[in-house]
Amino acid sequence: KRIADLGDLSGKTALVRADLNVPIQDGRVADDTRIKAAVATVKALRQKGAQVALLSHFGRPKGAVVPDMSLEPLVPALEAAFGEPVGFAADCIGPVAAAALKGDAGIVLLQNLRFHEGEEANDPAFAGALAALGDLYVNDAFSAAHRAHASTVGLAHLLPHYAGETMAMELDALEKALGNPTRPVAAIVGGAKVSSKLDVLTHLVEKVDHLIIGGGMANSFLFAQGHAIGTSLAERDLADTARAILERAKAAGCTIHLPIDAMAAKAFAENAPHRIAAITDIADDEMILDAGPATVEALKQVLQQAKTLVWNGPMGAFELKPFDQATMALAHEAGRLTKASHLLSVAGGGDTVSAINLAGVGDQLTHISTAGGAFLEWMEGKTLPGVAALEG
Ligand code: 3PG
Repeated sequence: KRIADLGDLSGKTALVRADLNVPIQDGRVADDTRIKAAVATVKALRQKGAQVALLSHFGRPKGAVVPDMSLEPLVPALEAAFGEPVGFAADCIGPVAAAALKGDAGIVLLQNLRFHEGEEANDPAFAGALAALGDLYVNDAFSAAHRAHASTVGLAHLLPHYAGETMAMELDALEKALGNPTRPVAAIVGGAKVSSKLDVLTHLVEKVDHLIIGGGMANSFLFAQGHAIGTSLAERDLADTARAILERAKAAGCTIHLPIDAMAAKAFAENAPHRIAAITDIADDEMILDAGPATVEALKQVLQQAKTLVWNGPMGAFELKPFDQATMALAHEAGRLTKASHLLSVAGGGDTVSAINLAGVGDQLTHISTAGGAFLEWMEGKTLPGVAALEG
């Protein structure tokens, strides 16, 4: 059920689970993407006359009150985003929360849910104390939907429940990308380690037509194929696992794309002297820091033939110039093809989103997920508890 299904909400309090777990630097919000993601839901509920109680976790205080993990410093950024005053309750349950909601405040931010052990334990008593504060529950935190906590699962069993605007948009985009996609489907999976994305790779080879592997994990596959990779970052002990994934892909009709050339350097450093080398020609004292230009050209063609793209993880050491080139080139191509309506593109994960924003194509892709861990679990084909609870 979605917010659009709701009528007039005057006199009602909506408990809105947002993900305000935003990066803070020197007491200020360093990236407000997740705050912006909450705006549509909060505004829609306010327009229907509801009072909004905002619920979120912040950091991992593990049931203790950790002052550094208070949500209070977010109030100014929230007021700027919502365009109206935001009250603050120093506790998310009990008399302090109830008192803050009793007045005529339109929006009240409740203190970090994880200051109570009951949140992560999905303790029914804690969920009940939250539910007592409102009349309906709206979950707009896709990025926390992989957690089976009181505020992501428990509340849905206690109150009429709805998917928030960002949650609904995210679920629609993900359904189009992997649930019921237009083929051919390409996926880019990059990043440092095969071990952290084993389940993603295993699931995707069964789902997609083209799997582009980049970053450090490509080195592990190249090593498994018998290539010399010099001093490259790789998980050499996972060669058997990598070979098993290649076999599964073959059986499933999924084409795996690995680098055919590389930017190779002797040091892992910004502007390290480098050369473009065929993948068969990496010296013992060299490391692969990015895919090379021939790889980029071949991958652009894969994207040009695709109708759907799912992306998680950079293609190289994109934080060190000039080893950001393959990631940037693919981001530009994905943006261009999406803008021209040739491609439906969905990307997620912290590094991926930073790379896409650095490339300046953040507004060109079909959907950029606000989620990290939840996006990966979705790519693994798992049912996210927070989503399942909304469906129940
Ligand atoms: C995230 O940042 O990915 C979400 O807010 C979930 O945070 P968690 O990993 O601490 O549950």
